[in-house]
Amino acid sequence: MANTLDYIKSPIEKELKTFEDRFKDNVKSKVPLLDTIMNYIVKRKGKQMRPLLVLHCAKLFGEINESTYRGASLVELLHTATLVHDDVVDEANMRRGFFSINALWKNKVAVLVGDYLLSKGLLLSLQNKDFKALEILSSAVEQMSEGELLQMEKSRKLDITEEVYFDIITKKTASLLASCCGIGTNSTNGSEELLQKMLEMGEALGIAFQIKDDLFDYGDNKIGKPTGIDIVEKKMTLPLIYTLNNTDKSERRRIIKIIKKDKKSKAQIQEVIAFVNQNGGIEYAQKRMIEYKIKAENILESIPTESSTAYLIALIDYVIDRKK
Ligand code: IPE
Ligand code: IPE
Ligand code: MG
Ligand code: MG
Repeated sequence: MANTLDYIKSPIEKELKTFEDRFKDNVKSKVPLLDTIMNYIVKRKGKQMRPLLVLHCAKLFGEINESTYRGASLVELLHTATLVHDDVVDEANMRRGFFSINALWKNKVAVLVGDYLLSKGLLLSLQNKDFKALEILSSAVEQMSEGELLQMEKSRKLDITEEVYFDIITKKTASLLASCCGIGTNSTNGSEELLQKMLEMGEALGIAFQIKDDLFDYGDNKIGKPTGIDIVEKKMTLPLIYTLNNTDKSERRRIIKIIKKDKKSKAQIQEVIAFVNQNGGIEYAQKRMIEYKIKAENILESIPTESSTAYLIALIDYVIDRKK
């Protein structure tokens, strides 16, 4: 129970419901196609990690208020936009256990839907003069695009190092999770010093979150989206980077040759997965993930709060223990 989503949601059930209602209202459109797609998106909600972070971080320093709700909507709108775009980029046909937007309505629709969601988030904050939230979020959006493009460059050259991997995931994923913590905190406490600390905490949590996501790709659990797809897309993540760096030259050449192929058979993908599994890549990535989880906890423990950090600690735990 201690780190389940139910436990994490329990003290803020009412607030989460308010957020969901606001979110739904925010994405309404009079254009029939857009409305159909928005309904589809709202029905298939994800884990809501980002709004949960906004709400819990806000609660640490004061009372959840209207600007907190707008912050939660802003980050979830932006997150949803990036997922819709990401599935185009990654050519993924499944998301949250159902068909992705690009799979159902084609890439050109998905690109515009992503833009629509992004603009809805920006407008919501602008119309309410949430300039600080906008500032925090815009820098995350900038970093996310840089991170995704850096990743793309590396999957062409296949010359990624651990250092570059951490740079990529910090930009593409941790930046948004950090902003969730920053935006939540800023909605109940205006201290700049506190904001910086909470951003730092969120960044560490976000790095652990993406390592977990990358580990999922090497497993065969049902996670509601494709597995093995990173190898298909030539996306080299921590388990593979580590394993390649710790193997002999000929083995390394053999695996790189498979990854380089534009069309890989199921057996070839399995071969890479087995190679990583048998040579300590999974354990190494888990070890690094736990380091970042502990970093996030330590930062949080160093911050004076007005209410208990137990639920946020549970959420940090959930990041690395989750099953999807
Ligand atoms: C997926 O995020 C995108 C990544 C940064 C790995 P989530 O795993 O939080 O997606 P949902 O919202 O729960 O579907
Ligand atoms: C996270 O990377 C992408 C975003 C920052 C949107 P992934 O490509 O690994 O995310 P999933 O696995 O498709 O959710
Ligand atoms: Mg993807
Ligand atoms: Mg992934």
